[in-house]
Amino acid sequence: MTYPYQIKTLQQYHGAYKLSEENPEAFWASIADHFIWHKKWDKVLDWNFTEPKVEWFKGGQLNITENCIDRHLATRGEEPALIWEPNNPEERTRVITYNRLHKRVCQVAQMLTNLGVKKGDRVCIYMGMVPELTYAILGCARIGAVHSVIFGGFSAQSIADRLEDAKAEYIITCDGAYRGNKDIPLKSVIDDALIGNKLVKKVIVYTRTRTPISMIKGRDLWWEDEMEHAEQQVEKEGKVSFPAMPMEAEDPLFILYTSGSTGKPKGVVHTVAGYMVWTTYTFVNVFQYQPGQVHFCTADIGWITGHSYIVYGPLSAGGTSLMFEGIPTWPDAGRFWDIIDKHKVAILYTAPTAIRSLMGFGLDYVKDKDLSSLKVLGSVGEPINEEAWQWYFKNIGKERCPIVDTWWQTETGGIMISNLAGVTPHKPVYATLPLPGVHPILVDENGNEITGNSVSGNLCIKHPWPGIIRTTYGDHERCRTNYFSTYPNLYFTGDGCRRDEEGNYRITGRVDDVLNVSGHRIGTAEVENAINMHSGVVESAVVGYPHDIKGQGIYAYVIYEGSHHEENLTRQDILQTVSRIIGPIAKPDKIQFVTGLPKTRSGKIMRRILRKIAEGETGNIGDISTLLDPNVVEEIINGVI
Ligand code: WTA
Repeated sequence: MTYPYQIKTLQQYHGAYKLSEENPEAFWASIADHFIWHKKWDKVLDWNFTEPKVEWFKGGQLNITENCIDRHLATRGEEPALIWEPNNPEERTRVITYNRLHKRVCQVAQMLTNLGVKKGDRVCIYMGMVPELTYAILGCARIGAVHSVIFGGFSAQSIADRLEDAKAEYIITCDGAYRGNKDIPLKSVIDDALIGNKLVKKVIVYTRTRTPISMIKGRDLWWEDEMEHAEQQVEKEGKVSFPAMPMEAEDPLFILYTSGSTGKPKGVVHTVAGYMVWTTYTFVNVFQYQPGQVHFCTADIGWITGHSYIVYGPLSAGGTSLMFEGIPTWPDAGRFWDIIDKHKVAILYTAPTAIRSLMGFGLDYVKDKDLSSLKVLGSVGEPINEEAWQWYFKNIGKERCPIVDTWWQTETGGIMISNLAGVTPHKPVYATLPLPGVHPILVDENGNEITGNSVSGNLCIKHPWPGIIRTTYGDHERCRTNYFSTYPNLYFTGDGCRRDEEGNYRITGRVDDVLNVSGHRIGTAEVENAINMHSGVVESAVVGYPHDIKGQGIYAYVIYEGSHHEENLTRQDILQTVSRIIGPIAKPDKIQFVTGLPKTRSGKIMRRILRKIAEGETGNIGDISTLLDPNVVEEIINGVI
């Protein structure tokens, strides 16, 4: 497999970019031509950002799994599609060829069909990082069911909310998941999430940890039994087949929930054709992928990074994607380096928080590992700091591997701003230049464009690209108000950004009430809602503060009615409450009890002040004269932890 659209030189990059600006339709049609279609599109792009409406390749029909699997069978059938590295290094690695992946995905498609799942039905997937998770995702896509993967760290309550919002009728889960030295009881969390749920008809359970679980008659089924039955149906005369459902280009492919500045997570919807073209194009170009290379993206498939750069991008490109079940620090902090050495990984794509954490363990864990197979290093999820960038470049890439600092979001489907490995220059802590098809602009508070270089502003995108969010599930108005109404006719990212003297972009962080904790998006309002569930809590306000490893930590100011003796206990209770309502990732790092919060006369909490205090900038709080009670500020400063 070769990639005719792979950009090889800086000059080609500029040429492609120019073409994508001048004639986006011709540009994207020439790329979409390299995919398998049942029927070609009638119109490349139809759009307006006011509704918003974005339709790519309208009238085209295709199935993404034929692009991710079937088209590679003749040439790469016996090549590895997935390499699976288990949590426990003593357990056997699994290598899944394209032929094997095809068979398993056909089986899942048959199994789901047997259970009554139809095109457009929502299937919620709550599994650990096992190959069966990838089979489940692609099995849904094969029959046109809409998958919604939920990260294994989310609580029963979070799952219940998502199930309800997506109106999901089917769940695929595991008995449990291994992560480091922990067994996570996934099925029992699902059981809790289903208390009171009337919509879910079937729960399919894959056996991973052999944790005792309860199976509810008529509702719960074993994956192994159903898959065995399906195997007999899809295999005829030694040949495996299950017809891929022809999908409209703009049919939904999946829903993925993500946090915003309001209390409730949003179901970001991506559609089949645009997402496919975008993830493949960005994968091949940013990482400069060559067939045969092992690509190791360390994200969990529960996040967009895993969807786009473990599953869809690499497989559509006929690549070999490494799936790792465990965590970077178990059995010890050398695990990533062992995996790279063992599987001859060419591309490592990870998050700054992981780099910073591993950096803290020192070079002893790196020094005897053979990392010579590495060609490209990637970073994603949050701004990378200079120290982590240099450490990564020097000690992991040995100063020979370019680092791609890739800026993008759940809503963008794939990478938006990044250098192309070895083709366009990298620059420490800069995501650098936009991909062809991406037209970033910076605006001030009033929406006026900030032109020229060496400037900062709020980052917006002015023209649709194929991977853009189409809607928020069940509530299109929410999509409009969140992303398309702040600045008319622009997609607003929620990020602040600097453009340097050469036109390189550096994303400086969120400008809304969303935190980025260890590369995970968490809404402050969500955490506040969870804290407020605790019976003794009157009110709370949550802000971020700089954290050495996590990037941002969670700082909660809490008004609590109760005696001071109970404070430590209450702290523990609050942490547990947040864990139960959202999941352990949202637990505050610091809780400060206060008697009041700084509010304006109209009752709005002045977060700017709370942020400054949490950041330790107590000498420079700024104007507090508009506060209802300016005295609370001093009290809060005195109580800082
Ligand atoms: C942040 C993850 C700086 C940003 C793919 C964005 C980054 C949010 C970078 C999206 C980067 C992601 N440099 N910041 N290279 N990549 N971000 O939806 O604030 O989980 O808005 O998508 O992460 O997070 P999400």
